[in-house]
Amino acid sequence: MSNQFLTLKNKLPDLGIGFGLRREIADETFEAKDKIDFLEFAPENYMEVGGNAKALLERAAEAFPLISHGLCLSIGSTDDLNNDYLKALKKTLDQANCAWASDHLCFASFNGVYVQDLLPLPFSKEAIEHVVKRIKTVQDYIERPFLLENISYYTSLPGAEMNEWQFISEILEKADCGLLLDVNNVYVNSVNHGFDPERFVDQIPLERVVQIHIAGHKKSKKTIIDTHGAPVVQAVYDLLEYTIGRVDVKGVMLERDQNFPNFDEIIVELEKIRNICDSNPGSKMDLKKCGTSKKAKSDVQAVSI
Ligand SMILES: [Fe+2]
Repeated sequence: MSNQFLTLKNKLPDLGIGFGLRREIADETFEAKDKIDFLEFAPENYMEVGGNAKALLERAAEAFPLISHGLCLSIGSTDDLNNDYLKALKKTLDQANCAWASDHLCFASFNGVYVQDLLPLPFSKEAIEHVVKRIKTVQDYIERPFLLENISYYTSLPGAEMNEWQFISEILEKADCGLLLDVNNVYVNSVNHGFDPERFVDQIPLERVVQIHIAGHKKSKKTIIDTHGAPVVQAVYDLLEYTIGRVDVKGVMLERDQNFPNFDEIIVELEKIRNICDSNPGSKMDLKKCGTSKKAKSDVQAVSI
């Protein structure tokens, strides 16, 4: 089993504490740049575009290191990988000088039709073989480290031969890629599917975690829904704290995609995340090294693979 990815991970820059590039709150985000070390953007919003979208990405690239987090790769789909999409993705990653890129461990299209959702895969050996081949293709194409994110899911597909963490672990090892660990998704799934979230963290190959996501969710009577539209709850901060002491991570990013509050509330959440990462005795994040966004930007170099 190849471990080339782990060598590459050691060369990646420490990006620090990040936030999402969102058009609706872009001005506030730029004004708070001394509180934010890097920005994450959805590449689909900036592929082959001009006008305001192009200008926004260029402005962001001037002020911050940028990381790409895709929605439409559909790595688990039975459709062929979309070469037009890969080509546009690579171009966008190069333009934004992204040190790494990520997408979700899911499928989002079927028979050429994209759905507005990230759907879970069956936890089967056949799905692992299918996804591993495609990850290798993507990683070769984009010429930089590629991370998959653990998704939140509300139903399990039939045909499971293992549990979720076994499924994720085997894919990461066989494809020799990285993990974007979303601690809110781990928490949401742990409540909805009845498992211990810390046990999940203990069972995955933590050395492959490059980035962490943290976000808010919505609680209904029977389930929790991953909305990215509410403040982070204490149980998810606690899971971040548990995780950050066990993993050498290059960036932690707060996701907020809707129901935007006054930006002061976002800053409070970012500072809380920073304190957790800074004060945990087991944390390997060197936030002083990340410094301000301008300083960190100069450290970002895409790593060839
Ligand atoms: Fe996420």
